Amino acid sequence: MIHETAIVESEIGEGTMVFAYTHVLKGAVIGSNVKLADHVFVEGGAVIGDNVTIKNNVSVWDGVKIEDDVFVGPNACFTNDLTPRSPRMESAKARYAQRENWLLETNIKHGATIGGNATIVPGLTIGQFAFVGAGATVTKNVEPYTLVVGNPARPVASVCSCGQQLAGCYRVTNCEHCGETPAERLQQHSGTPSSSFRRALNSNTTSQPTPTKG
Ligand SMILES: CC(C)(COP(=O)(O)OP(=O)(O)OC[C@H]1O[C@@H](n2cnc3c(N)ncnc32)[C@H](O)[C@@H]1OP(=O)(O)O)[C@@H](O)C(=O)NCCC(=O)NCCS
Ligand SMILES: [Zn+2]
Repeated sequence: MIHETAIVESEIGEGTMVFAYTHVLKGAVIGSNVKLADHVFVEGGAVIGDNVTIKNNVSVWDGVKIEDDVFVGPNACFTNDLTPRSPRMESAKARYAQRENWLLETNIKHGATIGGNATIVPGLTIGQFAFVGAGATVTKNVEPYTLVVGNPARPVASVCSCGQQLAGCYRVTNCEHCGETPAERLQQHSGTPSSSFRRALNSNTTSQPTPTKG
């Protein structure tokens, strides 16, 4: 389903839904069964796996890689330049002439949640099934199954893959809510992205990321 007001300039996977006023640029890679809600912007060079939900008003820039089953809350903010200046400023033109000079990747691992209005500074990895609280400003990598909140975001608890907080460390604590065991988490935490995400990454290397910073 692609809403009549959406602009989709890349191929999207089967069952992916694109809602009103969303714009997917050429060179983006988007998997199957994804939901892009109203007013989402996906830049060339972004990679989104399968079963991902991206809520309203989120921009997914070049260099942002979102694995399968991730949830991104409304108004969450990704970034890809740690020390931006206006690329149009004369003295900044040399830096922005080459993507490698300024672009830092962001990796959101399988099953993670990014809360509404959270900001992720560039160059970070948010671990598998990690949980970023609403409004957090994330300045460091987040470990798998870890809840971070605040500005700057700090780890405050372990979380289960069901989203509930655990009474102890995710490596040794069963979930009181869904019964998930640490052994089951270890199996989920294989460190290898799904085959569909790897396919998406491969096709991304052949597609065109945004040639210059906008
Ligand atoms: C992180 C979160 C899951 C915690 O929920 P919770 O279990 O009800 O919160 P807790 O009761 O465990 O909170 C514990 C403490 O952390 C604080 N806290 C909770 N969420 C916080 C957040 N996002 N930022 C800062 N502090 C937070 C609480 O105020 C509380 O502080 P206190 O101990 O000083 O009173 C929740 O607050 C959150 O951010 N959810 C994401 C919501 C969202 O973005 N949804 C998007 C889809 S609409
Ligand atoms: Zn659980």
